[in-house]
Amino acid sequence: MLQLAALTLLCIVKWIYQLIPPEKSRIPSPGSCLLILLTLAFEHDKLQKLELLSEFYFYYGLFKFDGKIYILNPRLAQQAIYKLEKGAKHYLENSPLKNTFLGSSQKSPETRRAIASLFRKTSIDERATIMMSDIQKMCEQFRSGPSGVVNVTEWTLRMALDIVGHVLFELDFHGLELKQEKLISAMTTISHRCYALGEVTSDSKEFLDANVQIDDITCMVLEEALNIDDGTIKGKRLVKSLHDACGFTEAKDNMKLFLMAGTETTAATIPVVMSLLVKYPTVQDELRQEAEELLESLMADPTTPLPKIESVLSEVLRLYPIAPFISRQNYEPVNLGDIKLDQHTDVIIFTWGIHRNPHFWEKSREFVPFRFLNTSKTSGNMYIPFGAGSRVCIGQHLAWLELRLAIALLLFQFKFEHAPETPELRFGVDWTHAVVHPDKDMVFRISPTQNDTCVLKSLNR
Ligand code: HEM
Repeated sequence: MLQLAALTLLCIVKWIYQLIPPEKSRIPSPGSCLLILLTLAFEHDKLQKLELLSEFYFYYGLFKFDGKIYILNPRLAQQAIYKLEKGAKHYLENSPLKNTFLGSSQKSPETRRAIASLFRKTSIDERATIMMSDIQKMCEQFRSGPSGVVNVTEWTLRMALDIVGHVLFELDFHGLELKQEKLISAMTTISHRCYALGEVTSDSKEFLDANVQIDDITCMVLEEALNIDDGTIKGKRLVKSLHDACGFTEAKDNMKLFLMAGTETTAATIPVVMSLLVKYPTVQDELRQEAEELLESLMADPTTPLPKIESVLSEVLRLYPIAPFISRQNYEPVNLGDIKLDQHTDVIIFTWGIHRNPHFWEKSREFVPFRFLNTSKTSGNMYIPFGAGSRVCIGQHLAWLELRLAIALLLFQFKFEHAPETPELRFGVDWTHAVVHPDKDMVFRISPTQNDTCVLKSLNR
């Protein structure tokens, strides 16, 4: 009741506030009354508070909250992305990623440059068949398990890890005795249980053990890769390039970055897609029909366009940007539009607020599956699920190929439905690494389609 009253009051205040012309050189921030209303309406849900503030302060194009500046205006966001430096370093204090190039402007240029070619679209496309085999392996598990309810979160996490192992590290985590299980358990403890859900703290034994686990495995993989004679075995190129660019310790740390960033993100996206397709079964059928029509072409050329599947994926990453913000910092005082930023200001380009803002997008909070079909991709709106500029997501081509292929292969073979155990789609946010995850494992009822799977036989390893 109180919550509803607070929400209503917030709507009225927002409406009145928008009638007042903004003072362009001021950075607005919510006063104590507004903060109380936000807490009554959303309790501790910071993402919802920020989403509402994005509407509230739309005409300013930015606002201050918890000591950070959140940017919504596309022109200011572009300036921030291109003028400011990557700025996550000081958030990563306890994270296993603290020494990676994720949060550092200094370490990035050489390391990123050294490995960039391995992440180009052409290099990733060359490895599409390996990726398809890993996806098919997950599908076979669905097929061989007792029919019924499947934990899609758990299986996509395994699949995404297999893909990072095979495509990036040229290594089979399955082949390394129990390494896959240990990695999954360690990553889940760190990203989900600690950073997204707050179930364990970063000084708990579980967290520290998980850190050691990931460190040991990356160390072992790196040592093994360095022992391979270059002349006889081609492979382990990413691992070796990282080592050549930044030495053993940093290479090992950056491998953790690829393991975690490469696994968590796609593994969080697929359950969200499936949750929407279960909610909108006719859309699921339309996508399945596209998969059926194009599967043979896809097997011959994995880059074959899948217009409807791609539109749905783009829409999912608009409505639920898995990386909900991008952080930047300025090392010198700098101007953004009419605003002067002091040295070391934490600037957040707030993708979640930009992608879901009713001032930018029609039906901004609705899932419009074919919004991106046959139109200029974004209708002129800012659309940055993978970031932008020199620090744009290095894994974007890998992620996009993986998502397209996984959705096509899954829908070709299975029908997904709501089960009594299927949770509502709600998110936990890992503010440290800027990732949102469904707060519960997404479980669905699945049943095989009548499609002939002979065409997929070549993918079985
Ligand atoms: C749905 C999937 C994914 C999304 C939405 C996503 C999104 C993002 C975003 C928004 C950034 C920050 C860009 C910026 O600061 O401007 C980022 C950075 C990064 N991503 Fe991704 N990502 C995804 C998948 C992947 C995958 C599969 C990998 C690795 C294989 C990966 C590796 C990285 C790395 C290493 C960075 C840091 C880049 C740097 O700081 O220079 N990401 N990603």
